[in-house]
Amino acid sequence: MEKVVSGIRPTGNLHLGNYFGAVTNFVRMQNDYNCYFFIADWHSLTTHPKPEDIVQSVDTILAEYLACGLDPEKSTIYVQSDVKEVLELYLFLNMNAYLGELERVTTFKEKARKQPDNVNAGLLTYPTLMASDILIHRALKVPVGKDQEQNMEMARKCARRFNNIYGVDFFPEPQSFYFSEKAVKIPGLDGSGKMGKSEGNCIYLKDDAKTIQKKVMKAVTDSGPTQPNSPKPEVIENLFTFLNIVSEPDTVKFFEEKWNDCSIRYGDLKKQLAQDIIKFTDPIRERIAQYSADKDLLHKIAAQGADKARQSAQETIKEVRHIIGFR
Ligand code: ADP
Ligand code: TRP
Repeated sequence: MEKVVSGIRPTGNLHLGNYFGAVTNFVRMQNDYNCYFFIADWHSLTTHPKPEDIVQSVDTILAEYLACGLDPEKSTIYVQSDVKEVLELYLFLNMNAYLGELERVTTFKEKARKQPDNVNAGLLTYPTLMASDILIHRALKVPVGKDQEQNMEMARKCARRFNNIYGVDFFPEPQSFYFSEKAVKIPGLDGSGKMGKSEGNCIYLKDDAKTIQKKVMKAVTDSGPTQPNSPKPEVIENLFTFLNIVSEPDTVKFFEEKWNDCSIRYGDLKKQLAQDIIKFTDPIRERIAQYSADKDLLHKIAAQGADKARQSAQETIKEVRHIIGFR
């Protein structure tokens, strides 16, 4: 079975952007692929240098992964730092990664701008660590959001370069994987581009009904359509994007018609949207609470996942050492 890898950094709780952009795809892939889903705790150190928050968040994300439907019987679910083989590959890949190309990665430039006092080497080599996560299992497919495209390009470059330098056909070039033709981008409701932790505009899976309602009711809108059938400005399009994801088709149709004949009332739309988001996330929130309360189970699942991931990683790293020429 084809191998699949993906991971999320434990820098907070999962939000609807993570869920619809990544985790739903993880869940859908489990039946058809040999999946490795991990929690990228080393990656978190590039922006969150103190591990005490991370250790707690690892359990949190693990509980959230499970609550979303990741199944340890079907997939290998593990914590990145449990698989040290990744670091050896990271070292090898770094030897053939160049300053110029790493500096050009937009996520590096963005993070360097956000934390000018901590432009560390880990931040610069973030893409080679990500490439190691993927190549350590020689995975073919990587379900990620659109914002990861440049990192994926670097992972392919690392694979190609390794093969070229050592004259082998060892690493396949991993491809981003989306179920729909286009990568999904979940917008923020504050008028900004995307929902994201650093944007501070997230609706979290663990948010209770009241919190969700508050956040949705605060969504940015405009003064309303003045011409029938006019195109929607971005902030309104964003609300419809959400409706399309969580509401019944009839509900979407109802508000589309209201928009088109200029009788739309944003308050009604938001109320409906909040209600539908709550209905959707309610059972997930319940399961998060159950898993979070069972630390023994979480740790058992992580330990089992680590064993399986290490096995796959050891096979790769043994061959890599041999190819490079280490005895
Ligand atoms: P954040 O931007 O909140 O820090 P991460 O960068 O940790 O989230 O993203 C984890 C995964 O979720 C990645 O695969 C990313 O592409 C996806 N993702 C995050 N936010 C969104 C969004 N708003 N829309 C679609 N996918 C997203
Ligand atoms: N860079 C990814 C993100 O910010 C997280 C990540 C780390 C990842 N290693 C990976 C995703 C390997 C897919 C495969 O979301």
